[in-house]
Amino acid sequence: MKDDKRQDRHLSRRQFMRNSALAAAGFTIVPRHVLGRGFTAPSDKLNIAAIGAGGKGFSDIRNAFNKGSDNVVALADIDENRCEEARKLFPKAKYYKDFRLMLEEMKDTIDAVTISTPDHTHAVAAMAAMQLGMHVYVQKPLTHNIKEARELTEAAREYKVVSQMGNQGASNPGQVQMMKWFNEGLIGTVDTVHVWTNRPVWPQGIPVPTEKMPLPEHISKEDWDLFIGPAEYVDYHPLYHPFKWRGWWNFGTGALGDMGCHLIDPPFRVLGLGYPTEVECSVGQVFTQDWVPEHIPEGCPPSSRVQIKFPATAGNPSPITMNWSDGGLRPFHPDLIPASDDLGEPGSANGVIMMGSKGIMTCGVYGLHPKLYLPDGEVRTMPEDFSTDNPNEGLPEYGHQVSWTQACKAGFGSAEHKRLTSSFDYAGPLTETVLMGNLAIRSYALAKKNARGRMDYYGRKKLFWDGEKMEITNFNDANQFVGRDYRRGW
Ligand SMILES: NC(=O)c1ccc[n+]([C@@H]2O[C@H](COP(=O)([O-])OP(=O)(O)OC[C@H]3O[C@@H](n4cnc5c(N)ncnc54)[C@H](O)[C@@H]3O)[C@@H](O)[C@H]2O)c1
Repeated sequence: MKDDKRQDRHLSRRQFMRNSALAAAGFTIVPRHVLGRGFTAPSDKLNIAAIGAGGKGFSDIRNAFNKGSDNVVALADIDENRCEEARKLFPKAKYYKDFRLMLEEMKDTIDAVTISTPDHTHAVAAMAAMQLGMHVYVQKPLTHNIKEARELTEAAREYKVVSQMGNQGASNPGQVQMMKWFNEGLIGTVDTVHVWTNRPVWPQGIPVPTEKMPLPEHISKEDWDLFIGPAEYVDYHPLYHPFKWRGWWNFGTGALGDMGCHLIDPPFRVLGLGYPTEVECSVGQVFTQDWVPEHIPEGCPPSSRVQIKFPATAGNPSPITMNWSDGGLRPFHPDLIPASDDLGEPGSANGVIMMGSKGIMTCGVYGLHPKLYLPDGEVRTMPEDFSTDNPNEGLPEYGHQVSWTQACKAGFGSAEHKRLTSSFDYAGPLTETVLMGNLAIRSYALAKKNARGRMDYYGRKKLFWDGEKMEITNFNDANQFVGRDYRRGW
């Protein structure tokens, strides 16, 4: 996906622009990025654009805008109705359907982009923006597959741009509280972690839709082609756009991809986890006839359990087993948690349990409701006046977007950049871990029809992972899910 020649071209263009811009600076407004990152006065405004401005994209760009702290100069969204609110809020922003056209036409104006499209277009959009020297805020999961996550992480360093993934819980004080409890040794050494979600809360595990559906009037064939982007072409269906793309591997990453970057974040951060070494899963089955389960490799399963193993870390001298479950499945009460307590968050829909040698730490989604259970029966919650050194803590989503815009202005490698809670150096390996679970889930569905017309499933194994090489070492067929081929033209 990387294009070195393009980078050279871009750098020389920027260098040229910088020289000529400096000469002309007395009488013209110079887009700050042509001056090079790190040359921005903190009082200057950033020129931000959104790629995907409906759904989550609307709150991302609105939060980054922060009531006028920065300029919103352009919006790209394939669906003009879906991004109507954003277009109303930012009437001066130039509206595009094709983000590639926006990046090309406005490359000298845009400093930074928020990317909140369905998962399958995150990587192509982020890479294109970074190659133009733009800072990027990319929704979770950072990418659709492991290889893309690795490439974006390397590219952010290479192009020296400020990056942040949209797992806003990373900036929640709850995570700081958990880190503090752990660092104080209150739960001892952790060997087991349970993580779960009530997702999917959209159709999932259902047969691939076959009926031909007309495109909504406001979406043209060209718009739909842009939605498909690098994925395999399929005709429009309301079971894909909007929102429901999550349940299909062509576009989404299922329940684990949707919530893993929020929920695996606290243990990943607190325990200092890196690449996993082993993964194994099982998934829920669907029956529309007796005895023979549906085989729907295109669709994410209705429920799954995944076990991911990690070696000991600098801060935690025990290997760690992480047990993920979704689709309504959740862990059981450990002895230390009173029988009638909700697990994780009120209602127990989502949560994290870190089992330590001395105690247990839990939280809900986004690092909310952190709780500490100690062996003498003491239960601690986060004090109401607990605060962190995050100056943007009180802003929407704990200032996750604003911390990023401030870091963009301060420049690559600045203190503000280093303080970001989910720049790609962190978010890349976290996303790879989440997608490792999906690699196991997709591998689990590998099957061949046998002589009796039944499916023989041959991928239901425990898989061993070489993180550095990005390779399953004991079952080569699983490696097809490490990356993906892009559609022609992407
Ligand atoms: N951090 C969070 O709490 C949170 C919450 C919801 C969604 N998300 C993430 O945000 C992303 C979007 O999810 P959503 O629920 O908003 O989905 P959605 O389908 O509701 O919205 C996606 C938007 O992107 C637009 N779009 C689709 N393809 C595009 C393309 N190629 N170029 C430009 N625009 C395009 C759509 O028209 C739509 O406006 C996903 O990655 C999801 O995981 C994060």
